[in-house]
Amino acid sequence: MTETLNLDVTLVAESRIHQLDPNNIAFGTIFTDHMLVADCINGEWQTPKILPYGDISYNPALATLHYGQSIFEGMKAFKNDKDEVLMFRPLENFKRFNISAERMCMAQVPEEIFIGGLEELLRIDAAWVPKGEDNSLYLRPFMFASDVYLGVRPSQNYRFMIIMSPAGKYYSTPPKVKVETEFIRAAPGGVGYAKCAGNYAASLYPAKLAQEQGYTQLLWTDALEHKYFEESGTMNVMFVKDGKLVTPNTSTTILKGITRDTLIQLAKSMGIEVEERRVSVEEIIAGIQSGSVTEVFGAGTAVVVSPFAAIGFEGSDYVLPTITDESYSTRLKNALNDIRTGKVADTFGWVWNIHA
Ligand code: COI
Repeated sequence: MTETLNLDVTLVAESRIHQLDPNNIAFGTIFTDHMLVADCINGEWQTPKILPYGDISYNPALATLHYGQSIFEGMKAFKNDKDEVLMFRPLENFKRFNISAERMCMAQVPEEIFIGGLEELLRIDAAWVPKGEDNSLYLRPFMFASDVYLGVRPSQNYRFMIIMSPAGKYYSTPPKVKVETEFIRAAPGGVGYAKCAGNYAASLYPAKLAQEQGYTQLLWTDALEHKYFEESGTMNVMFVKDGKLVTPNTSTTILKGITRDTLIQLAKSMGIEVEERRVSVEEIIAGIQSGSVTEVFGAGTAVVVSPFAAIGFEGSDYVLPTITDESYSTRLKNALNDIRTGKVADTFGWVWNIHA
C-alpha cells in the first residue's frame, strides 16, 4: 500500500452496477460508478477528488484539444477466490506513465496520486471487478494539458484522471493482420515509446485502409526500410520460431509493453528460450512457409495474449497453424491468468493486493 492519500470523496446516490452483465461485456463501453480527478496547477498538485462518473466540460481553447499533450495507461484489476481485488504490476504502469509525461513535456504525477488513487477507487468500486474467464476491470489513468491558451508551449496546468471499465475479451476471433509497408507508426527520435494519444490517432487511417481489405489490424514495420517488425496495432508482437520465443527488442520506436515483459519472464521460467532482437518480415514469411514459424501473437494489457490467424504481406495471406493447448501462446496466457487472479502463488512479486 502507498502512503495514505488525502482525498475528497463524493459517492453516487445509487450504483449503476445492475447495468453490468458479466457474461456479455463489450470492451470500453461501460464505466464504474466513480472516477478520480486531480489537477496540477502551476506545478502544484491539488487534493484529488473521487466523484460520480460523468461528463466534464471544457473551454474550447483547452490546450490538449489543439496540440495533443495527452497520455494514458492501460492496466487491469482482478478478483481472487476470496473476492479480494488484485492489481497487476501497477508500479510498472506508473513508471511508464511518467516516462510518457516527460517526453510530452507534461507534469510528473506523484506515486501517491497514481497508485493511491487507483487503490482508493478500486476499494470504492470493488463490486465492478468482474469474475469469470477473460474478464477483468480495465483501469485507464490518463492526463491532459488543461491550459486555456492557443500559443504553442507546454501547458502550465494538467488534469490527471482515472476511469475504470469492466472488460471481457478484446478480440472475439483471432485477428488477421496486415504487414504495413507504406505508412509508419514511429521513427527514431519520435514518440513511439510514449503512450501518447497522438500515436493512436495516427494509426487509425492506415488501420482503416487495412480493414477495408479484410484485415483486423496492422503489423508495423520500421520507418526507415519497412523490413523489420515493430509492433502491432495496440500490442507488442511475438513469434515462435524453431521452438524459441522471438520478439523485436524495444527501442525509441516501440512501446515497452508490460505484458511483453511479463511473458518474456514467464517463458524463461518455463524453460523456453527467448530472443529479443530485430525480426525481419522476410524471416517470418519464409518461416511460416517452411513451418519453422508456428505462432505469431500480440501481447498487451487489453488483448492479453492474442494469437493471429494469418499475416497479409504484399497481397498474399500466410495462414498460421491452429493454436492448441500446447502452443506457447496458450501456456503463457494461462500462466499469466493464474498469477493475476491469485490461482497460483506469485513468485515474481507482480500481484498487488489492495487489501494488504
Ligand atoms: C492497452 O492494452 O491497455 C492499450 O493501451 C490498448 C488500448 C489502446 C485499447
